[in-house]
Amino acid sequence: MKRSLALLLLLASLALGQGEVLWKRLCAQCHGDRAQGVRPYPGLEGVAPFFATPEGRRYLVLVVLYGKKGEGGLMPGFSQLKDEELALLLNHLRALLGAKGEAFTPEEVRRERGLNLTPDQVKRP
Ligand code: HEC
Repeated sequence: MKRSLALLLLLASLALGQGEVLWKRLCAQCHGDRAQGVRPYPGLEGVAPFFATPEGRRYLVLVVLYGKKGEGGLMPGFSQLKDEELALLLNHLRALLGAKGEAFTPEEVRRERGLNLTPDQVKRP
């Protein structure tokens, strides 16, 4: 049973792309398959410009690592994921939004580790 589930996940990741598989597993329940938002959780259209500026990119990494708390509610952090997985997730979001800016690298994620921020300390630039 476990093995067939693992095989299914493997096949799904080959077919869809790893970023999309991770997105569907970890982000879609709140932000939707296309980042449109699932009530009461927010859509992410507004972050598209952040992919193209250094402060914006840092913010996106901080949100996925440490989470965010604000008017939209509480998002947990995902620092338990690998740098590579977080980069894949951000790159999937970038593709969903058709955002401009370079692809994220695992290195760009790694740089923001170890800050131990709480979700309410993560602020939009
Ligand atoms: C439990 C629901 C939940 C999950 C799961 C979740 N988020 Fe969030 N996310 C939120 C909420 C709520 C906010 C807004 C918090 C606020 O009002 O500041 C948010 C905000 C964000 C923002 C910043 C939006 C902005 O406008 O500045 C980004 C980027 C983001 N999430 C990405 C992700 C990614 C990528 C994943 C999957 C790894 C994910 N979220 C998983 C609930 C969630």
